[in-house]
Amino acid sequence: MSKLANYYHNKVAVVTGAGSGIGRAIAHGLSENGARVYCTDVDIESARKVAGELKNASAYALNVTDAAAMAAFAAEVYAAEGRVDLLFNNAGVGHAGLVIDTELADWRWVMEVNVMGVVHGIHAFLPLMLKQTGPSHIINTASGAGIIPMPRTAPYCASKHAVVGLSQSLAAELHGTSVGVTILCPGTINTDIIKNTKMRGASAANRQSKAIEHYAKRGASPNQVAADVLRDVVQGRLFCVTPRKEVGLGWFLQRLSPGLMQRIMRARMNQVEGAASI
Ligand SMILES: NC(=O)c1ccc[n+]([C@@H]2O[C@H](COP(=O)([O-])OP(=O)(O)OC[C@H]3O[C@@H](n4cnc5c(N)ncnc54)[C@H](O)[C@@H]3O)[C@@H](O)[C@H]2O)c1
Repeated sequence: MSKLANYYHNKVAVVTGAGSGIGRAIAHGLSENGARVYCTDVDIESARKVAGELKNASAYALNVTDAAAMAAFAAEVYAAEGRVDLLFNNAGVGHAGLVIDTELADWRWVMEVNVMGVVHGIHAFLPLMLKQTGPSHIINTASGAGIIPMPRTAPYCASKHAVVGLSQSLAAELHGTSVGVTILCPGTINTDIIKNTKMRGASAANRQSKAIEHYAKRGASPNQVAADVLRDVVQGRLFCVTPRKEVGLGWFLQRLSPGLMQRIMRARMNQVEGAASI
């Protein structure tokens, strides 16, 4: 048995936003390595489709913005399994546009899904995970935009920085307990997120079609993200930054000199239309 299969075999895993893209790839990776996967998504048909592709999986309709539904779902999984070994708080949405063109409703929507969705998962599952016997792990999907500033994506960037901040605090608090934390920071990944991204401002439709093209041409495969995060969880890493070549350099420069990063971002803003990286 491979190292991965050895770790994931018979584990109980919950994945939010499992119906598409990175969540779907993670669900596949988990199942291929012998885990039992609870595929959840606000779009139940997509979750059903993914669960149907897997060996040992089931599908649930779950909107991560609904705290009561998240709590009810956690109770249901614990009633059936008695434990959850891996919680992937992965569901998220994209938004792009200048701050000046962004509506308050946009800010609330992005924060509600990308930040409170993760908070709801932690709030519902963590107390139960701490009570069960054996180690478990929470994996929160942030983004390269959670560790590197990105113009034209302020609400998204703010939401993902929040996920990084809350996850780092959580990891420190949980040190020495049975629950580990990994923060997933993907770069440009070829998924449907960009098609569903809310674009604001002048020539939004044109910017969106250019961004869709950019993601299709330059985006890494979600399977690569899944492989990297499943490996990093086994290794107990706090950060999974992937693809390293794309995100690692920007992260290094941001830590080295935020001033230099501002200059790079200003130049990039004029080069790339709309959301280059979500
Ligand atoms: N694709 C990228 O380039 C990229 C880069 C960095 C981070 N991310 C993050 O990765 C995660 C997954 O994104 P993806 O690229 O696979 O996108 P995707 O659009 O392919 O998949 C996202 C899934 O989340 C679901 N979802 C949306 N709102 C939800 C809600 N309120 N409750 C439950 N499910 C909901 C969607 O139905 C969809 O199935 C997100 O958190 C995203 O911000 C993506």
